[in-house]
Amino acid sequence: MTLPAEALRLLADWLPGNDDPERPRMQLATVDASGLPDIRTVLLSEWDETGFFLHTDANSRKVAQLASFPGVALDLLWPGFARQLVVQGRAERADGDEERRVYARRSPYLRQLAWQNTAEVAQLPREERTRQWAEFADAHDIAALEAPATWVGYRVRPSRLTFWEADPEGPSHRVEFGLSDEGWARFDLPG
Ligand SMILES: Cc1cc2nc3c(=O)[nH]c(=O)nc-3n(C[C@H](O)[C@H](O)[C@H](O)COP(=O)(O)O)c2cc1C
Repeated sequence: MTLPAEALRLLADWLPGNDDPERPRMQLATVDASGLPDIRTVLLSEWDETGFFLHTDANSRKVAQLASFPGVALDLLWPGFARQLVVQGRAERADGDEERRVYARRSPYLRQLAWQNTAEVAQLPREERTRQWAEFADAHDIAALEAPATWVGYRVRPSRLTFWEADPEGPSHRVEFGLSDEGWARFDLPG
């Protein structure tokens, strides 16, 4: 199910283009095996008419949580607290072409980080981590690097999107889109 046309118009207005190197940050909430919520910041890699894409390490806690329960929430906050977008939905693995395209667009730092962001490196003293970082950079053409096998992407398919907007001359206001068996419905809500 693709997102409703009005939500797509709002997203195009609110979010930078997918080729803008400055990526929005978002909070990604998941649920752990004991039912407790977990949360962390990730980059919004890209979005399209089907949902929102993020990328991470296959060995991360969030990936284990998504494997046992794919329900997630996303929260994007705009500077000056002028806008907030909250998304509820389900995460599914992105396809390989999408994962490769996003990796190719990442900064050299983040491309290298995807290779060296391991549990083993994290145990090392800082000087050794710095030494291994420099050694890796010397030994590889970072611009030509391909993604490690641990680079994984997820698409969040929304079942609810809530666009919150501040209004200095009136009450804040939310426009919400909810998906049910009847399709998408739109609601105006208090802020
Ligand atoms: C501004 C910012 C951006 C981040 N972007 C990402 C990202 O795109 N992907 C990612 O896996 N981790 C990213 N991180 C690190 C995560 O917040 C988190 O520490 C890491 O993914 C491990 O999370 P987990 O143990 O809950 O899986 C970012 C952190 C910050 C502060």
